[in-house]
Amino acid sequence: MERSIYEFPAIFRRVHMERPGEIEAEATFMRAIWERHRKAPVRRVLDIACGNSPHGRLFAREGLATVGVDRSPVMLAAGRYENRSQPNLRFYRRNFERFTLPEPPFDAAFMMSETFPVMANNSAIISHLQSVGRLLKKGGLYCIDIDRHDGIKLVTRRSVWRRRQVRVGRVRVGVRELHRPVTWHSALHSIYELECTIRFPDHTKVLTRDLIPVRYTTPPVMALTATASGMFRMIAAYPDLSFTTTLDECWGRWFAVLVRT
Ligand SMILES: C[S@@+](CC[C@H](N)C(=O)[O-])C[C@H]1O[C@@H](n2cnc3c(N)ncnc32)[C@H](O)[C@@H]1O
Repeated sequence: MERSIYEFPAIFRRVHMERPGEIEAEATFMRAIWERHRKAPVRRVLDIACGNSPHGRLFAREGLATVGVDRSPVMLAAGRYENRSQPNLRFYRRNFERFTLPEPPFDAAFMMSETFPVMANNSAIISHLQSVGRLLKKGGLYCIDIDRHDGIKLVTRRSVWRRRQVRVGRVRVGVRELHRPVTWHSALHSIYELECTIRFPDHTKVLTRDLIPVRYTTPPVMALTATASGMFRMIAAYPDLSFTTTLDECWGRWFAVLVRT
């Protein structure tokens, strides 16, 4: 059976081309968003699709009560292990499309690393926003980062997009990225296929394959979706971790800021 790159948390970060300092910059920007848009102090935060919660770890270190949810047992195990001496960060295994938590309400929630677009169905997006909304205080903020996808062509046949080699210590990874076709009436913009051939120093070879649906969400679509959930209103769209860059100047991705109504 083929495996998933999410079973290898340290490798997945490099494959996703995370740059040094990126997580810290994102966490700093989220703090700035909270200061700008939330009157009350932020003390409790929810990291949705947390993986091993690199952002949550930073907030927990600053003393915020932080909770992460993810469906991957491997990611959660990595998060629990890495944060075993950090009482401010706790994890739950949940599917984010519809979930509840035995927790008091949160001041802020976030979903990072381009995960929102994997929700393909209208019903999943609405039940997701309602699940998050029920866990937030009124006036609480939900920050979501979304990549621009306008360079991606619709394909009619499975086609290779990029190939690259990545090194993680002594581990070598051959990465192939492909696009798979979608039907014209699908909500998806594309299906991104990520194939990794991982070669460990002991010559073991592991092949992973992940199919990641991509539903393209632009700022007006997010604004409409937030309102349709009956629980949120979109109050800002910030490009490239900046309050001053315009959407026209956006280089790679943008932050949706939703407020719990
Ligand atoms: C790109 S990773 C991001 C992890 C983390 N937020 C970060 O920035 O490193 C996406 C995460 O979403 C989780 N995920 C994907 N679909 C999910 C779902 N339906 N419910 C819960 N978690 C999901 C995966 O297990 C994975 O850990």
